[in-house]
Amino acid sequence: MKTRTPISIYIIVTIGLTIMAFEMFAQDSGYFTSPFFWALLLIATILLLIMNTIGDLVENETFSRLTETEKKAYLEEKSIPFYQKLWNSAVKKQSQTEEKDILIDHGFDGITELDNSLPKWWIGLFYFGIIFCAVYMFAFAFTDYAHPDAEYDKETKFMLASIIEYEKNAPTINLETAKYNADYITEGEQLFKTNCVTCHGDGARGGIGPNLTDTHWINIKEKSLFKNVFWMLENGSPNNPTMRPFIKEGTITGRDAEKIASYIYHINQEKTPVTEAQGGAAPQGEEVKWENNNQ
Ligand code: HEC
Repeated sequence: MKTRTPISIYIIVTIGLTIMAFEMFAQDSGYFTSPFFWALLLIATILLLIMNTIGDLVENETFSRLTETEKKAYLEEKSIPFYQKLWNSAVKKQSQTEEKDILIDHGFDGITELDNSLPKWWIGLFYFGIIFCAVYMFAFAFTDYAHPDAEYDKETKFMLASIIEYEKNAPTINLETAKYNADYITEGEQLFKTNCVTCHGDGARGGIGPNLTDTHWINIKEKSLFKNVFWMLENGSPNNPTMRPFIKEGTITGRDAEKIASYIYHINQEKTPVTEAQGGAAPQGEEVKWENNNQ
């Protein structure tokens, strides 16, 4: 008669599998606080305890029918704790006589081999792997669990929410507070490519909108070039609705505008203008001598 696996193992496995199932199939990760989750665990544990008691009764009944030597062998086996048996099955080496019993002799090539049975922990992991794989594939196919698109959506929502949160607390950047910063140039260039390049051309050399690298400007609203660009982004062009008030209409934030204006300041003041000969648009408006501060 075989000794039984202790109830604690069943309980641990049941808890593990329940968590796995909830992790994969629950809509949100708040299941730990759901009464349904705990009720399920409680019911499962009660069922296991009932099964264990039935197991005890069956065991007693079978035990009473054993011969004396069988009883002795059984009690001896039972006296070794389960975990120790598990450990032994993983690491214990056979004695010479035990080896003889499981020796396979190929005969023809003289190589001998031990026909060991696989350790229990290994078999356990193997079956767990198979079950997990099946459940995982099912969850992957029919639920949002581990689904890249769903995870991406979730991450995006989270990021957008934290950006909104940040914007709420961060001081808003407006015409007064905006400041040139050389560190913004690269990011400003990216923002320019996304929002402005269609009209102002590659590197702001001009197109539908004027060349922003030269000394001529149609709209002169501020004394400094940096602030003038910011002004245009906030208010748009008073003469031409094609140049929209990007900040006011909510396409970009004041923070973005600060970066874009830094980029334009950089290409206008720290680089040479893109002339007509180089493919730039002809100067428009009047020549401006900016107060060369970038504040
Ligand atoms: C749909 C086309 C269009 C887009 C997109 C656009 N602009 Fe303009 N922009 C114009 C036009 C047209 C003008 C000329 C307005 C005028 O005649 O007053 C202009 C003027 C400007 C001026 C003033 C130039 C001057 O000489 O007075 C600045 C600065 C400027 N734009 C920056 C930007 C920036 C930065 C972006 C991106 C956030 C952008 N624009 C996006 C069309 C556009």
